[in-house]
Amino acid sequence: MSNKREGIRKGLTRYGDDAFSLYVRKAFIKAMGYTDDALERPLIGIANTYSGYNACHATVPQIVEAVKRGVMLAGGLPIEFPIISLHESFAFPTSMFLRNLMSIDTEEMIKAQPMDAAVLIGGCDKTVPALVMGAASANVPAVVEVTGPMLTGTHHGERVGACTDCRRFWAKYRGGEIDDAEVEELTNQLVPTAGTCGVMGTASTMALLTEAMGMMLPGGGTIPATFADRQRHAELTGKRAVAMAAEGLTPKKVITPAAVRNALRVLQAIGGSTNGLIHMTAMAGRLGIRVDLDAFDELGRDIPVLVDLKPSGQYYMEDLHRAGGLAPILRELRDHLELDTLTVTGRTLGEEIDNLPPAYPQDVVKTVDAPLYPGGGMVILRGNLAPDGAVIKQSAANPSLLSHEGRALVFSSLEDMAARVDDPDLDVTPDDVIVLQNAGPLGAPGMPEAGYLPIPKKLAEQGVKDMVRLSDARMSGTAFGTIILHVAPESAVGGPLALVETGDWIRLDVPNRSLEHLVEDAELARRREAWTPPSAHAGAERGYLNLYLNRVTQAPDGCDFDFLMP
Ligand code: FES
Repeated sequence: MSNKREGIRKGLTRYGDDAFSLYVRKAFIKAMGYTDDALERPLIGIANTYSGYNACHATVPQIVEAVKRGVMLAGGLPIEFPIISLHESFAFPTSMFLRNLMSIDTEEMIKAQPMDAAVLIGGCDKTVPALVMGAASANVPAVVEVTGPMLTGTHHGERVGACTDCRRFWAKYRGGEIDDAEVEELTNQLVPTAGTCGVMGTASTMALLTEAMGMMLPGGGTIPATFADRQRHAELTGKRAVAMAAEGLTPKKVITPAAVRNALRVLQAIGGSTNGLIHMTAMAGRLGIRVDLDAFDELGRDIPVLVDLKPSGQYYMEDLHRAGGLAPILRELRDHLELDTLTVTGRTLGEEIDNLPPAYPQDVVKTVDAPLYPGGGMVILRGNLAPDGAVIKQSAANPSLLSHEGRALVFSSLEDMAARVDDPDLDVTPDDVIVLQNAGPLGAPGMPEAGYLPIPKKLAEQGVKDMVRLSDARMSGTAFGTIILHVAPESAVGGPLALVETGDWIRLDVPNRSLEHLVEDAELARRREAWTPPSAHAGAERGYLNLYLNRVTQAPDGCDFDFLMP
């Protein structure tokens, strides 16, 4: 047997005798039917995130087959292996709670098993960041293939897609405009095909950022899950992975500070999900790259929102794909991007932009001169209520509420909100600011997508569609409204949000990036003195919850575990 350390010889199990380890390993893998010739090829691991609970990943088996075909066409041996799968609606208490676990699974399985490169197949919100975080830490050549967006459906002749329309119809239901039967009927149409949410939610955002950052072959960010092009793209990805193994093209060479800045520029331009900021921070953080919130805000001042997709605009992901996908966005942003960053193609972003197919008329991606929204998609707020920052997606907010002073209506937890928000006697007006405490990384726990606080039923029934809402939670990228999120430090660790009481006044001033709690310092000091932390979460004394609660960081650090960051 050769002494080469690649392929099947990588990471030999420690029996104290490497030759024996290789001999036994070969004996076992040959039970899968491989020949010696196959086992001498570069090994390409394929991270299979299929799960019967995850419709966003329903097409993973076909993608795996296409990737395998590409690997074999290039002379490699593909070996798929399982990674846990997270779906947004099938993860209690929230998929964010489990993102870091999935990243650990990815890192350790890439390191533990012999592979010269890895193809990472993900799609649903947390899966792409988790795979990239893990691969970045493992630093083995890796390339992402996303499952791709779902197609749209129709409801009573109206085009619909998950999940901006899910929320829009739910708001109608709460306002009494549609009944139980119609809500049931909608569940047949809102998610009409396999694939990820078909608007500019977190999954679409992460797919586009991954492509912009250079971790995906060009064009992969928007191909719908059910298109044959998706399989062809996956085949090319498998083929490319074999070459990346030979070139040693690791994530560290691709995910550089400049590549991260390029992705953040694209995040602003696409009107992407606020979650994209947390995930970019976590992915970059794995390689010691710090995402500075104020620098991100600064980037947004120069880059308008170009992409006319829900929830900021009107179209769906399949429309963006037909309009050219990321290509017209990159073309339009060319002068703002750092063009010498390396991508998984082995070429620079600038070379990729030069190689783009010719532009054609379309109206989904606007121009810098005539954008969808003049400012960037997101703004970072600071002030005595958020000394470490908070974020608002201004492009999906009500412009008339972006400078607003209102009386706080405080809910101390998700449970408190659920119990009282629909009380017909609730003392609330449309000018109030709804505040939710204890829904951050530690508070809930898992920083749920609860920041899209419901309009109290008595106001919803009067036709109120938006109010200023504020929390340390996250929000689904598919949601919309004047909603301040990720307030840091969070209230569960005694951040200033914990000191807000119903009846206090709060001032939001998005143009000046400020969020202020209009209460005298002496009174805040008195409240701080009297503050006690919330009681411990049930089950906190053991298991993953214990690990999570002890090691998760705040939103400005990407909610990664401190021990996973270099
Ligand atoms: Fe998977 Fe929206 S639930 S992408």
